[in-house]
Amino acid sequence: MMTYCLVLFLSLLLCFGFCAELRNCELRGQKWPVPYKRFDYRPDVDSYCQALYPFCPTGDPDGRIPYIRESDVISVYRLQTPVWEFKYGDLLGKMHIMHDAIGFSSSETGANFTMEWYELFQLGNCTFPHLRPEVNAPFWCNQGAACFFEGIDDLHWSQNGTLDKIGEISGNQFNDMAKWVQEDNRTGIYYETWTVRSDLSPNATVWFESYDCSQFVHRTYRKLAELGAKLSSRTQTNYTKIYLYSGEPTYLGNDSAIFGQPALKNLAMDIKKFYYTFRPHQSFVDIALSLLAAYEKVVLNKMFYLYYNFEYWQLPMKYPYIQITYEEVPLPSD
Ligand SMILES: *[C@@H]1O[C@H](CO)[C@@H](O)[C@H](O)[C@H]1NC(C)=O
Ligand SMILES: *[C@@H]1O[C@H](CO)[C@@H](O)[C@H](O)[C@H]1NC(C)=O
Ligand SMILES: *[C@@H]1O[C@H](CO)[C@@H](O)[C@H](O)[C@H]1NC(C)=O
Ligand SMILES: *[C@@H]1O[C@H](CO)[C@@H](O)[C@H](O)[C@H]1NC(C)=O
Ligand SMILES: *[C@@H]1O[C@H](CO)[C@@H](O)[C@H](O)[C@H]1NC(C)=O
Ligand SMILES: *[C@@H]1O[C@H](CO)[C@@H](O)[C@H](O)[C@H]1NC(C)=O
Ligand SMILES: *[C@@H]1O[C@H](CO)[C@@H](O)[C@H](O)[C@H]1NC(C)=O
Repeated sequence: MMTYCLVLFLSLLLCFGFCAELRNCELRGQKWPVPYKRFDYRPDVDSYCQALYPFCPTGDPDGRIPYIRESDVISVYRLQTPVWEFKYGDLLGKMHIMHDAIGFSSSETGANFTMEWYELFQLGNCTFPHLRPEVNAPFWCNQGAACFFEGIDDLHWSQNGTLDKIGEISGNQFNDMAKWVQEDNRTGIYYETWTVRSDLSPNATVWFESYDCSQFVHRTYRKLAELGAKLSSRTQTNYTKIYLYSGEPTYLGNDSAIFGQPALKNLAMDIKKFYYTFRPHQSFVDIALSLLAAYEKVVLNKMFYLYYNFEYWQLPMKYPYIQITYEEVPLPSD
């Protein structure tokens, strides 16, 4: 009897040890920041998602980029302007929420082009989902994509923002970049507003990296540098970052795992309640009540549900919770 108990005890101990080990392994195996997932192709957009402003109205519908003669010299411009969404007037600009793009102009033909990456259905739709009675899981209209079109609207960029020449590239380098942009656009399909990090210190752990217009601009600059371009700016190059601060995030699961199983219905309810707070608003009373509810959830309960790679994570929030900065990111060849 005694030995039996001992064996049982030991195996329990072993099992717990093993399980704990497994859990730790899983934790240790988690790479931070969580890599942004690339897809094989871009899925069709659900007809529920309707753009307030059409996406890329003057761009080529198939995203074609004109071929430039090898001997051409192309000027590259850094473009930046405050985001203006009519509901908020220029409030977003005052908070330094900026939109970034890249300009190109050909010295042989004089033609010029703008290239940018942005939300198909506006920023709010990429930040918070819709709760639809007929669909169990929160519904996201969160695609983002690259838009390439002819022309640079000098006034639009220079009046309240930046239009700054940062270098010259050859026609060859331009054509190579164009191929890369199309591939990047095909495989990187959704917009992510938040950067999540552990604290304010410069060597904080970054749990999740945003995927937005400025990240696209940085990726393109890095690609151009890789192709041999020299880029430099006389002025500081600052970009908007929207941070969440949290302890180590916990993985929760994807839509079918959470919203397709009765076993997780409490979690499913809680996620929906969380996002209900951030739904698109009707009245000022609603906004006031929702701000209070958001404060309670994020600051008092220290809780945030993040949707990343079409999967949910729970963030144990901490001070200062949310922060918008406008900070310098040097050009790759500076
Ligand atoms: C967000 O998506 C909804 C639903 O498709 C749409 O009605 C709305 O115009 C979109 N844009 C904004 C800014 O809410
Ligand atoms: C990127 O993808 C979007 C959505 O499919 C498309 O409208 C756009 O033309 C593409 N842009 C480029 C540069 O390939
Ligand atoms: C782009 O082309 C337009 C039309 O020719 C011109 O007005 C504008 O100054 C050009 N902008 C740049 C940055 O080359
Ligand atoms: C620049 O900002 C001013 C004041 O906010 C505004 O009236 C003007 O339309 C803006 N210009 C552009 C080109 O957006
Ligand atoms: C960076 O991290 C180290 C150890 O991880 C820590 O001792 C140091 O204080 C941190 N530096 C800053 C500026 O926070
Ligand atoms: C969702 O997660 C489950 C396991 O947690 C996995 O089997 C399934 O393939 C995932 N679904 C999608 C669409 O990724
Ligand atoms: C740009 O960023 C630097 C360093 O990140 C900061 O000191 C500076 O104040 C920023 N400029 C503006 C206009 O915010």
